[in-house]
Amino acid sequence: MNIQGKPHRTIGWSVDRSAVEFIDQAALPRTFSVLRATSLDQIALAISSMQVRGAPLIGVAAVYGLALAARADASDRALASAAAQLIETRPTAINLRWAVEWAQAKLAVVAVASRARRAEELASELADLECAIGKQIAEHGVKLIAEHHRRAPGRPVQVMTHCNAGWLATVDWGTALAPVYLAQQLKIPIHVWVSETRPRNQGLLTAFELREQAVPHTVLVDNAAGLLMQRGEIDLVIVGTDRTSAQGDVCNKIGTYLKALAAKANGVPFYAAVPSSSIDWKLADGVKGTPIEQRDEAEVRVVGGVELLPKASPVTNYGFDVTPASLVTGLITERGVCAASRAGLAELFPEHRA
Ligand code: MRU
Repeated sequence: MNIQGKPHRTIGWSVDRSAVEFIDQAALPRTFSVLRATSLDQIALAISSMQVRGAPLIGVAAVYGLALAARADASDRALASAAAQLIETRPTAINLRWAVEWAQAKLAVVAVASRARRAEELASELADLECAIGKQIAEHGVKLIAEHHRRAPGRPVQVMTHCNAGWLATVDWGTALAPVYLAQQLKIPIHVWVSETRPRNQGLLTAFELREQAVPHTVLVDNAAGLLMQRGEIDLVIVGTDRTSAQGDVCNKIGTYLKALAAKANGVPFYAAVPSSSIDWKLADGVKGTPIEQRDEAEVRVVGGVELLPKASPVTNYGFDVTPASLVTGLITERGVCAASRAGLAELFPEHRA
């Protein structure tokens, strides 16, 4: 995707391959800067501090981290310790564990002396794979947008999203926003409603992306989503996911569940864009079993750099919530759109049939 007309990916090797380069998302949207990491610890810190964020991207970043770790020591013991360190950085997105275990399995069958080189290739392979998956999600999801356009051709299709599940949350394309970008390429008129996503304001990253791609959009405060749906201003909601259970419960950024409830109450279709790397096949009941990250209270206490809420008032800061499958109209995966149910997922992913 483009920044000031120039194509970028969120992460990759430096030209001489001495370092991992990644867009610093903690500095966006005010400052666009690219940071360099040369060690496992630097990548682990970039993930935990959300300089790299978004479920698919943190999985990819972790494999780059594993590759840097392998340069220092590629023994089984060192790689197992690096993997554990990376997996601990953020608990909710299953992509992190999936990606680390994917790379570990491939490295286990390679001689120790060749592992650093192979790990370097694997990081690039996974980055390419996430891009290809985003493009496939775009191709399936755009059909839903095209259907709304067919029904009401005289006006832009109104899509609501939450948080940032665009190209910044992946390597390129994105998940929830991928169908939007393809719709734009296909000249389907579209307008995106972007919720602010307090307290980390990832909606501002979404607005940044959409501005750079010249996609018409409007930012709303999180609590306005219900009103807009009630007024009939939204055609469909598309969100991303950090972990979707085997029965189709969708864990995503805090506030997603409230949007799904409002969508159900107002007859608005509610879709989640779900790359298979975000599906936790071992998790049946997502509402009961998803580990929910609790983030620093300072994210709530401090507004605009000023501590507005004194310590005498306790704070809770859950980063994610889980939308039960019953509220989800469909899952947009790289293999097609399916019902949010065990049977729906099994049709597209028979290899995971229970
Ligand atoms: O805490 P973040 O910013 O990493 O959370 C990101 C989200 O919740 C996204 O909506 C989700 O990862 C899907 S990203 C394709």
